[in-house]
Amino acid sequence: MGIPFQTGDKERARAHALGALEGAAQRFPVLPMPNLAWNREVEAATAHLYERVAKVMPAIEWAYHAPYVKAINELKRERNAVILAHNYQTPEIYHCVADFVGDSLQLAKLAATSDAEIIVQGGVHFMAETSKILSPEKVVLTPDLEAGCSLAASITAADVRALRAEYPGVPIVAYVNTSADVKAEVDICCTSSNALKVVESLGSDRVIMLPDRYLAENVAAQTKVKIIAWRGACEVHERFTVEELESYRADHPGVKIIAHPECPREVVEISDFAGSTAAMIDYVRAKKPARVLLVTECSMADNVAAETTGTEFIRPCNFCPHMKRITLPKILDALVHIREEVTVDPLIAARARVSVQRMIDLG
Ligand code: 13P
Ligand code: SF4
Repeated sequence: MGIPFQTGDKERARAHALGALEGAAQRFPVLPMPNLAWNREVEAATAHLYERVAKVMPAIEWAYHAPYVKAINELKRERNAVILAHNYQTPEIYHCVADFVGDSLQLAKLAATSDAEIIVQGGVHFMAETSKILSPEKVVLTPDLEAGCSLAASITAADVRALRAEYPGVPIVAYVNTSADVKAEVDICCTSSNALKVVESLGSDRVIMLPDRYLAENVAAQTKVKIIAWRGACEVHERFTVEELESYRADHPGVKIIAHPECPREVVEISDFAGSTAAMIDYVRAKKPARVLLVTECSMADNVAAETTGTEFIRPCNFCPHMKRITLPKILDALVHIREEVTVDPLIAARARVSVQRMIDLG
């Protein structure tokens, strides 16, 4: 079982946000809430955006989203803000208001290079923290402070210090799905797209990987480095089973099964390919399989299906309840009120930045 987002983390995140809000509110006054009526003007102004999602969204649903899409896109320009959206965000966010989309590594790099004053993070709390760590001078907003992650909640900075004491001299690699406090304690970060490369870059015969036991097992299967793993798990990916996938294979002959490395080892083993969310998308774009099953969060398949022709998507997806906390109304609220601001203690941020930057510098 995954470990739920801990109450302590929420309270701490809220306390950080309340402290920061006073600063951001002074720099960015609250704006009036835009008119959110659905009418012919909104329909015409957003028709080109509806085309991007029409394959996965009925017109009646668009009538609800379109006024928010129009208002958010106008407000973004007024605020000099960008929206960074993870591949698990829903299609109306991913295709219609996001300025940049990608996997965790791509979003981290974009946060470091964007010249906007405000970043609205379409993703969960650790992603907003990573943006803040890399762009301390920017205002980073999360549309929902409670958008956590079972992996990030499974380990604390004190746990990392205890590991350090138990395994002196063994380098520690933290998946980016961790809090800033944890990143500050480790030697280097990794994402699912570079985990093997990061582990092998350390020149050590033993490496501690935290907090995802399955990512650690999937990396261990590809390297001679002995991996010591923490026992966290992603509550979305750990639910997929071999039996479930075998039955999809039987029902859908020829289907290509593409898994995320947060899935259990045996699920990855029977898959045709495993990689980060961006690598999964690249696989579909490059190979154009006739039938594909993305073993990951539900919105990914929607987002890829919306822009793909000639591929049938089989959908045994699992929802991430944390990612799904991010909605258009909350993004609009974030831009109108400049809330909730995500802050990281500057001393923690400076140490965490070293771990994240080492990963980015590996290329
Ligand atoms: P990536 O997009 O880096 O593959 O991460 C997947 C994920 O679960 C993020 O929360
Ligand atoms: Fe965390 Fe898993 Fe949700 Fe990603 S999908 S945010 S790893 S719980």
